[in-house]
Amino acid sequence: MGMSISVKNMSVIFGTDKQKEAALKLLDSDLTTQEIKEKTGATVANRNVNFEIEENEMFVIVGLSGSGKSTFIRTLNLLNVPTRGDVIVGGNNVTQMSKEELRNFRRKDVSMVFQHFGLFSHMTVLGNVEYPLEIQNVEIKKRRKIALEAIDSVGLGGWDSSLISELSGGMRQRVGLARALTNDPKLLLMDEPYSALDPLIRRDMQNELLTLEDDSERTIVFITHDMNEAFRLGDRIALMKDGEVIQIGTPDQFFSNPANDYVKDFIADVDKSRILKVRAVMRKIYDVVLYNDSVDDVKTFLNDKELDYCYVVDEKRKLMGYVEKEAVMKSRAKTIEKLVQTEGYEFARRNDYLRDVYSQLKESTYDVPVIDNKGKFRGVLGHDDIIEALTE
Ligand SMILES: Nc1ncnc2c1ncn2[C@@H]1O[C@H](COP(=O)(O)OP(=O)(O)O)[C@@H](O)[C@H]1O
Ligand SMILES: [Mg+2]
Repeated sequence: MGMSISVKNMSVIFGTDKQKEAALKLLDSDLTTQEIKEKTGATVANRNVNFEIEENEMFVIVGLSGSGKSTFIRTLNLLNVPTRGDVIVGGNNVTQMSKEELRNFRRKDVSMVFQHFGLFSHMTVLGNVEYPLEIQNVEIKKRRKIALEAIDSVGLGGWDSSLISELSGGMRQRVGLARALTNDPKLLLMDEPYSALDPLIRRDMQNELLTLEDDSERTIVFITHDMNEAFRLGDRIALMKDGEVIQIGTPDQFFSNPANDYVKDFIADVDKSRILKVRAVMRKIYDVVLYNDSVDDVKTFLNDKELDYCYVVDEKRKLMGYVEKEAVMKSRAKTIEKLVQTEGYEFARRNDYLRDVYSQLKESTYDVPVIDNKGKFRGVLGHDDIIEALTE
């Protein structure tokens, strides 16, 4: 399970103790961050940041250079210490962790990927990927197995004995990601990992990240200065400016309800239909029933919710099909298992672009189920949702 994150009134100030103290007093004033800097000499890199990130969410932070993105992401593993406020990760306040707890947290729960890959160029791919396990004294057979699996998972199978210096930028970034995956982190922090890559390679990397993430139980915080990238990847996005969060929401919410002119300008060049994915507009909260639920329970459920049909999943939430009210009402069976219709309905994948599912779903009058790579039910999408998202 990925970790949830809760950031409460969190500020990070850089400067001498005296400067910081003076700036702290002005944090809640009307002064701009720039004015506070002029008055006190301190840099307010994050100012009164508040938000929650859900378990397993792909959360993107976007903003111009200097807006405080890196400062923020570094507070999540306490590489930066908040000057004020709290950062709660997986239920634990990182500012209150003991040294031992912090070490374990960094080793087991979190991983970080950077723009400048931070690899040893004279070492092999395998050497780099297994390095974090090596310094933890993980036994050689075990660490090799884990490292090779991670190398495979980022599409570098067969490259394990190549030297980093022989690889392209995109491949190096893959190695960085593989290394970050060796501890199977519940929280993955990615600070502009693709910003230095060519656009085409970048797009490949984004798609691969989405595929990798799609069925994993992991929270990802991803930083970029590119709005297109933010919208392509994020379940939700936070836009930062001068250390403050200007708007948080789904890509769709940014388009339909930009908080101010700054946001409007920021998203002006984004082509919605190329960017918006099913995951950005689908409805996540949606009731389903289990294939071994009793007919009586499902009857009650359909009546209470006034539904003509509903989707059916197995214990792992894998989509099995649907049942119709008519069939359930007539049935004398104990469970609905035999009533499940496994064919003859449309579905969409979470990472499909809206543009691509648009025509596919044009004919369907019902809410279409949305699944991930592994076939798990993730929500539903109606044709109206698409129209609304693309036309407003
Ligand atoms: N260690 C530091 N000491 C002093 N100032 C810093 C430090 N780190 C960042 N800053 C300042 O904080 C602001 C935000 O920086 P940063 O978080 O790196 O922004 P971004 O990642 O969005 O480009 C900038 O003005 C930067 O110069
Ligand atoms: Mg940065």
